[in-house]
Parts: sequence; C-alpha cells; structure tokens
Amino acid sequence: ALERTFSIIKPDATKRNLTGSVNAVIEKAGLRIVAQKRIQMTRQQAETFYGVHKDRPFFGELVDFMISAPVVVQVLEGENAIAKYREVMGATNPANAAEGTIRKLFANSVGENSVHGSDAPETAAVEIAQFFAGNEIVG
Ligand code: CMP
Repeated sequence: ALERTFSIIKPDATKRNLTGSVNAVIEKAGLRIVAQKRIQMTRQQAETFYGVHKDRPFFGELVDFMISAPVVVQVLEGENAIAKYREVMGATNPANAAEGTIRKLFANSVGENSVHGSDAPETAAVEIAQFFAGNEIVG
C-alpha cells in the first residue's frame, strides 16, 4: 500500500553536512520526500518524541544528543514506505547494518546513528502529527 513514514536526519549527520547525502540514498530507494524542515528540537519535543523509551538507561543521553544540534524532520512517501525505509536505514547499531544502508554508510554508533524511521503505521501517524501540519505535507 502507499504509505507515509516519519524520518529524522539526526544531529551527527546534520553536523557533518550529510543531509543531501542521506536524501540521495532515500530518493535512490524510490521514496519521495513529501515534507521536510530543519529544526532545533526542544528538550520537551525530544522527551515527548522518545517517551516510549523514558525508562531505558540511555534515555537521558538520547534526549541530550537529539537536541545537541539541528535535525531535519521529514515525511517520506512510497509503496510500503515504513518497512522500505527501515531497510534503507539499516540496523539500529551501524556495526550490524548491511552494505549500502544509511547507517552503514554514515552512522558513528548505536546512539549517533544518523537517522530515525517509524516502526509501524500507528507510530508513523503519531510522529508525523507531532512535527507537521497537514498542509505542510505535499504529496
Ligand atoms: P531511533 O530509531 O531513533 O529510536 C530510539 C533510539 O535510541 C535509537 O534510534 C538509538 O539511536 C537509540 N539507542 C538505542 N539503543 C541505544 C543505546 N544502547 N545507547 C544509546 N542510544 C541508544
């Protein structure tokens, strides 16, 4: 089915000027960037976004990292976009990521792993709505 997923190009990637390089991998995979903006996340936004992880030992480090520099938030559209983007990103830990994936190409570590992508349709809808108004998404 035609789906939309939510993507974040994380601070480790924006700081190294890799926004265009990440977008090239996304577009080469056939995903369309139908919304995109560069923002400085607030601590509150990051804590809300990662609320599901609030009891994990790495939560504080994760939030600090996500607000350490600008990020690029995006909506990606395509056939099976959610699963396809997870494939294009590669494993959460870049040490386990397949050749040609964004994390294999660019990520530094499990924390500084360059990109986020939604894991299911329900989370994609919630994540998109946290950062984009309907009229900012142009398919
Ligand atoms: P993401 O897909 O954005 O969703 C949760 C994030 O938590 C994940 O990517 C990782 O960047 C981060 N994460 C997972 N495990 C660890 C860990 N052990 N240490 C630091 N960050 C982690």
